[in-house]
Amino acid sequence: MEHARVSPAPTGAGPFSYPGAAPEAHDLPLHRDHRHLLGLEGLDREEILALLDAAEAYRARLRAGGMPFEDLRGLTVLLGFFEDSTRTRVSFELAARHLGATVTTLTTAGSAISKGESLFDTVQNIRAMGVDLVVVRHVASGAPYFLAANLDVGVVNAGDGRHEHPTQGLLDMMTLRDAWQGRFEGRRLALVGDIAHSRVARSAIHGLRALGASVTVVGPHTLLPAEIERLGCTLAATVEEAMDGADAVMALRLQRERMDAGLLPSLGEFSRVWGITPERVRLLNRDAVVLHPGPMNRGVEVTPEVADSERSVILQQVENGVALRCAVLARCAAARAARGGRARREVA
Ligand code: NCD
Repeated sequence: MEHARVSPAPTGAGPFSYPGAAPEAHDLPLHRDHRHLLGLEGLDREEILALLDAAEAYRARLRAGGMPFEDLRGLTVLLGFFEDSTRTRVSFELAARHLGATVTTLTTAGSAISKGESLFDTVQNIRAMGVDLVVVRHVASGAPYFLAANLDVGVVNAGDGRHEHPTQGLLDMMTLRDAWQGRFEGRRLALVGDIAHSRVARSAIHGLRALGASVTVVGPHTLLPAEIERLGCTLAATVEEAMDGADAVMALRLQRERMDAGLLPSLGEFSRVWGITPERVRLLNRDAVVLHPGPMNRGVEVTPEVADSERSVILQQVENGVALRCAVLARCAAARAARGGRARREVA
């Protein structure tokens, strides 16, 4: 299949631009240290499936009720959200509370970071108060690696710049596993829209590849990173080509807060050329599903008819997010306890 050549998107800060951050994720032993979840790059099939299995078990427990559980009892989780977030922050907070942890939230506004304190000093101070796990979202790609490399605390990446968003990638895979009756091999996801600014896209590509599924990306040339195929996905020329025969489509939000002016002619034009419409959904395989990580611009990335249709699994993604984050927090806490960190307090 011949694809149009793409012009490189503006690169801006590289994936590890945070001062002191390591140059390559896969060079870091941190990546294999289960006290942390920093990215899906380098995780193998077994590790991913173990997390999805654990998340399914948590989903069943959460549906049955009876929270809070004891899994993180006696542990303190800091949610450091230095960038806007609704569902990811609430989802981590619910997960940590459902598991019985003490939870505290820090955002840029209202913290000493707005007085000029560095991220490192802020987190080091909080660490000194006895925090066991830090969940961090930050505008700088590589910020979670920097904290994991420099502080004795488990770190979970809740989205770093345009680099990775591993728990989103895992909850997307959990949702696809339900839709795909447990089989990833031979399945294909079409990722549509703003690939250049999307950490969700990178985590989806790394994770699905490890599980044997393939990913086709498509979007305006200005919103495709140069050499995206090097991540192991294929590039389509049109949204129709990407969606034709795909087993799922995920629309990505236009990340206008990360865009330089002039990358898009207009929202109307984007939605006409790249929007997920009922006509385009008909190109997908029978039983294929529609995903969106949220927040969704209705009528821009996805038409309201598609967003509210039976094909849409957008709210399943949100439900799965809480269970998946329970599984990740529990895994990091268990690894931390095994390395001599505080274990959960045994209840008499
Ligand atoms: C994504 C994010 O923040 O990376 N949203 C999310 O976590 N649910 C995607 C986005 O902001 O578009």
